[in-house]
Amino acid sequence: MDPREYELMYHVEDRHWWYRGMETITRALLERWIPLRSPRILDAGCGTGAAMTTYLAEYGMVTGIDLYAEALRFCRKRNAPRLARASVLDLPFAPASFDMVTSFDVLYERAVSDELTALKEFFRILTPHGRILLRLPAYDWLRGQHDKKVHTNRRYTKKLVNRLLEQSGFTVEHLSYANTFLFPLAVAKRLSERVFPPSDDQSDLAMNAGAFNSVLKFILSAEAPLVSRVGLPYGLSVIAIGRK
Ligand SMILES: C[S@@+](CC[C@H](N)C(=O)[O-])C[C@H]1O[C@@H](n2cnc3c(N)ncnc32)[C@H](O)[C@@H]1O
Repeated sequence: MDPREYELMYHVEDRHWWYRGMETITRALLERWIPLRSPRILDAGCGTGAAMTTYLAEYGMVTGIDLYAEALRFCRKRNAPRLARASVLDLPFAPASFDMVTSFDVLYERAVSDELTALKEFFRILTPHGRILLRLPAYDWLRGQHDKKVHTNRRYTKKLVNRLLEQSGFTVEHLSYANTFLFPLAVAKRLSERVFPPSDDQSDLAMNAGAFNSVLKFILSAEAPLVSRVGLPYGLSVIAIGRK
């Protein structure tokens, strides 16, 4: 990821509609699919630590790992207690050390040369019946300027995520797209970027939704019951729950 993105992420993730809406969706998924009490959670690719130190900490004891020191520096500012600098491709943990792995928008990055190796690592460090909660960006044809800033290697479909999880040993329990209601707007934005390229490679996080922030957050959050129960048929993100 472009190093400037960490600072941007740190400053916006507590209030930006996308993060707050995804929090509501993630909470609904955790409540529906993760029956364990106080699980040991690994947040793999924890970024600047908002998910880990705010809502994930309510569900269990969270350890965060990230490849980049800059990301961990911001996690420390949030007083994250358990951190390690490591790659998802080679986790510094013994087999069966965690009951749950969360990995939000990590495996698509260029720094993850092979997502199957990472998924096999998640499988290895999970206890029997442990769960993985995975989120990835959807559809390669939706690549935009933001993908340049965050060093996207690839974007995914439900079918591909299903195959990767099965190949790494997981039983897939739930698959859904998310960010569906705003999908037409996002497609229009991405396509317009191709006709009228922005003057610089601007990150989506730098775009201030202003007065619309609450409205967009409300729209994204409204998907939570559908994503966590029946699943949505298309959207900007793919979400999966797998069991060891
Ligand atoms: C888009 S950010 C997502 C951060 C966080 N999970 C979130 O949802 O806000 C992707 C994160 O993956 C991390 N990352 C990229 N490649 C990695 C690797 N091989 N191992 C561990 N972390 C990695 C990046 O440093 C970055 O913090």
